[in-house]
Amino acid sequence: MSPRPEALRGATITGTGMYVPERVLSNRDLESMVDTSDQWIVERTGIRERRIAAPDQASSDLATAAAERALAMARLRAEDVDHIVLATTTPDRILPSCACTVQHKLGASRAAAYDVFAACSGFVFGLGIARGLIASGTADTVLVIGVEVLSRIVDYTDRNTCVLFGDGAGAAVLRPCAPGDGLLAVEMHSDGGLGEVLEVPAGISLNPASERTVQAREHFIRMQGKKLFPFAVRSMEDSLRASLDRAGLGVTDLDLFIPHQANQRILDAVRERLGISPEKIVANIERYGNTSSASIPITLDEAVRGGRLAPGDVVGFAAFGGGATWGASVMRWTMPSPVDVRRDGVALAARGGVA
Ligand code: ACO
Repeated sequence: MSPRPEALRGATITGTGMYVPERVLSNRDLESMVDTSDQWIVERTGIRERRIAAPDQASSDLATAAAERALAMARLRAEDVDHIVLATTTPDRILPSCACTVQHKLGASRAAAYDVFAACSGFVFGLGIARGLIASGTADTVLVIGVEVLSRIVDYTDRNTCVLFGDGAGAAVLRPCAPGDGLLAVEMHSDGGLGEVLEVPAGISLNPASERTVQAREHFIRMQGKKLFPFAVRSMEDSLRASLDRAGLGVTDLDLFIPHQANQRILDAVRERLGISPEKIVANIERYGNTSSASIPITLDEAVRGGRLAPGDVVGFAAFGGGATWGASVMRWTMPSPVDVRRDGVALAARGGVA
């Protein structure tokens, strides 16, 4: 792709938030459900437990809680939001969009709201959309949410998949900033030829719900994990390198790397191929499993609230997922660390503060 003129204004994150349901599903719990073991799951995936939504919780509930926290950190009201870009594979319903339900629950009455279906790459794609909306002047305040209640489409009789996935939501508020700050590059890619590697075979137009599809368990995730593994490693490495290149930076410029949390072995392989030191990568897969489009914003919020990012830091995101989709983004961080802000009340007031 040819180089493009720098946008008139940049886009940056001014607030983050996350929400995970209370119920924990441990590896030991799974041992009593399918033929697996804590040892196998930990060695092959790095996952020890994942969160499961309560029966009365839908994706919009998790997303609303995460979004409220992100807005509070950004010191904004729901009415300030211009666009809600919600990435999910598990909307409440196929109609209306999950984003519209979240808009209503938040009271974000001015916002245009819509869902993005890009599986685990959804949050990175959402950052790309938000950057375009802000750079073009179409919007000033964009709420990007990644949310999943994957437990509703996971087959708890299939040990190949049920040990991997969890529920959760993460959100980020994006606002304009000076060009050269905030999001420096966003890479977004897809290959529909790989669609069947990770799919839910039935339920919508191709294969509508019927007694037969329910009996055949076709409303659950089916995955060819072995085929995905090398693709995941290669696509995350390549897209992060391309994103850094587009930003005029190299791997050594990265202060923090926040990859999609799919499998600890995938994270280790990507990190080693890139030559990034272990302390620069953030991983929480042990506690949440793979939460698909929610995994990067959840991990980002934990990094932000844990004081791992300071203004001027370069942070990279990379993801891959069903579709297939993949992408990466590089940011020059602009938000003061909540940890520094708590130490210094003056900074809180002067810089707009955090919740
Ligand atoms: N417990 C015990 N044994 C298991 C389990 C389990 N939970 N799951 C599979 N096995 C068995 C298999 O049946 C196989 O047995 P066999 O040799 O008798 O056939 C054996 O373990 C080895 O299976 P592999 O598939 O070779 O195991 P692998 O080391 O590849 O790990 C895994 C499997 C974890 C799925 C890995 O391939 C992986 O992580 N792939 C990427 C998956 C992924 O990232 N998916 C999501 C991407 S997109 C998104 O995030 C929505």
